[in-house]
Amino acid sequence: MDQVEAGQLKRRLASQAQSRFDVIDVFPEIGSTNSYLLGMPPPQPGRANAALADRQTAGRGRLNNRWHSPPGSGLYLSVAYTLAKPSDRLPSLTLAAGVAILQAIEDMGVRGAMLKWPNDIVLNNGKLGGILTELQPASTDMSTVIVGTGLNIDMRGETDDIVAGIGRVADFREALPEGPDPLELAVAVLGRLIDALVVFDHEGLAPFVERWCNRDWLANRAVRVASNTGDRFGVAAGIDEEGALLLRQDSGMERIISGTVVPVEGELQ
Ligand code: BTN
Repeated sequence: MDQVEAGQLKRRLASQAQSRFDVIDVFPEIGSTNSYLLGMPPPQPGRANAALADRQTAGRGRLNNRWHSPPGSGLYLSVAYTLAKPSDRLPSLTLAAGVAILQAIEDMGVRGAMLKWPNDIVLNNGKLGGILTELQPASTDMSTVIVGTGLNIDMRGETDDIVAGIGRVADFREALPEGPDPLELAVAVLGRLIDALVVFDHEGLAPFVERWCNRDWLANRAVRVASNTGDRFGVAAGIDEEGALLLRQDSGMERIISGTVVPVEGELQ
């Protein structure tokens, strides 16, 4: 991210957010910002490191997918945070991060962005971005999480690509013809993310559930949930306080904790 300079970025963060970061590294090019932070010593509880890049040569997405990360096209940003209360709540942390990133997108003046369970950010029925949350293996009690996000800023017309479960790619240019200022966007995402990680650490997912459900792209849609235990069909009905997707079926409500959700409007009666 060559328009963003690390010192400038740190200075622009609100002092409360700024004081949480030990390291903020900005690279013109890197393999993957998540992998970089995974290789760093874990921060102390309640503290964070961050990495951003203008280009990733080995950007990674959920389910081992590649995250296409050409220069000047997107925000590629990761935060490592050590939870004061060690957690096995990684999936629900992704949902809290989604709420934070959506707020940052709204801070930039974009309206109408939505969240798709578990890790997608949707604009105009296209994938604007995604979140990849990982555990830092070197943290002895598994308490350091790496939250990485990729947001499409200007895909230069490549928005017709098909995205599984959503349908197409979206970028910021659809909502902001001039595109967001990269520094402003990085400040907004870092600030919102660190605030959310601190709240999540103390209060869990509960403070995020209502906001998440208000921006639920799948709400009340007929869906198919594909997972390694087979396909399930039903109507998406929000999330519970543990971050499971609620799937309404004739037989009752089922909690989904993993899988890829695909809208199948018209296929269900
Ligand atoms: C997904 O939708 O599958 C998640 C995509 C996450 C991509 C971001 S880009 C910054 C960080 N570094 C990575 O290698 N991946 C995440």
